[in-house]
Amino acid sequence: MILQSLELKDFRNYESLSLQLSPQVTIFVGQNAQGKTNVLESILMLALAKSHRAGRDSEMIRWGADFASVSGVVERNQRNYSLDLKILPRGKKVRVNGLEKRKMSDFIGHLNVVLFAPEDLMLVKGAPQARRRFLDMELGQMSPQYLYNLAQYQKVLQQRNNILKDSERMDAGLVGTLSVWDEQLVEYGAKIIRKRLEFVEKIQQFSADIHQRITSGREELTLQYKSSLLENENCSGSLADFFREQLLSRQKDDFRRGSTSVGPHRDDIEVQINQQNVHTFGSQGQQRTAALSMKLAEIELIRHEVGEYPVLLLDDVLSELDEMRQLHLLESMGERVQTLITTTMTYGLQELMQEKAVVYRVMGGSIDRT
Ligand SMILES: Nc1ncnc2c1ncn2[C@@H]1O[C@H](COP(=O)(O)OP(=O)(O)OP(=O)(O)O)[C@@H](O)[C@H]1O
Ligand SMILES: [Mg+2]
Repeated sequence: MILQSLELKDFRNYESLSLQLSPQVTIFVGQNAQGKTNVLESILMLALAKSHRAGRDSEMIRWGADFASVSGVVERNQRNYSLDLKILPRGKKVRVNGLEKRKMSDFIGHLNVVLFAPEDLMLVKGAPQARRRFLDMELGQMSPQYLYNLAQYQKVLQQRNNILKDSERMDAGLVGTLSVWDEQLVEYGAKIIRKRLEFVEKIQQFSADIHQRITSGREELTLQYKSSLLENENCSGSLADFFREQLLSRQKDDFRRGSTSVGPHRDDIEVQINQQNVHTFGSQGQQRTAALSMKLAEIELIRHEVGEYPVLLLDDVLSELDEMRQLHLLESMGERVQTLITTTMTYGLQELMQEKAVVYRVMGGSIDRT
């Protein structure tokens, strides 16, 4: 799919911006703090209605302005979709082809993106949270239902934890009130885990192939979803039953800790190279290559699931990779994947890329064609 154009009004440091994008490569060059990442963030908003870095949506409204808006035209399956998103101090409004959608899930998924930012190089080395975010971002844009289940799960989890923190309740024998929350937690949690298991199994295939290519056949990459639920036993019954049992058997413990010790919010992906855990035993370079393989696998998976390649957003990552990995990144997208790249410098990008690419210069919230 191709994002043809982008229009911003009062988004971050852009008062007004209108851009045509290359169907192949567009490069945004500029010094620090000029608004390069802001452009990619706005595109992420069109895809996911969620930013990868803003704590609150309202942070994206240009200081002093009443609201922000992001619009774009996406071409997919030979059809054009115009997407509009308006960020108000409280809440968002979205439209597809001019029609307002009341549910975010009717908006999300018209545009698919894979964002690769410097922090993604920590995907394997970093804490489990980074890998859960990876799962949630990708599953979220392919499945609105997943996003819904996740939001519900988090809400219920919060409420359950509030009760767990209130130790007087346990003393007063109010443990029974937990079971109401447990039921909902089990319902949404089991759905989330099932989807994630499926996803990791699929992405495993793609990432193993890619990793093998990058390492010239020397390394075998395997990914496995590690659920806190399934840690010790194989789950023979239904996931839901298993989850329910675990919540019950850990209830006393959970009250002591004041939080819920089991569920998808504690899960992880185990990444292995040649049967060794990369998080623990991998070298820095292996960890980065594994992260790169996983991100590139996302591109292939989206293509497999939705029938078209997503738009690839590379935020300042080329300079973080050595030449061999740069080459793999650029080669693997080739002509097939529309790619937007931000960088502080033009050298380091291959000359060929520059010839093919549309290059924009970003300066203090305005963008000019070079
Ligand atoms: N709501 C806002 N209103 C106005 N300006 C904002 C807002 N939010 C952020 N900014 C400005 O945007 C700038 C950052 O833009 P951005 O993160 O896109 O920079 P960048 O070009 O990616 O820089 P770097 O190369 O350091 O990553 C900040 O300096 C900040 O002043
Ligand atoms: Mg940036």
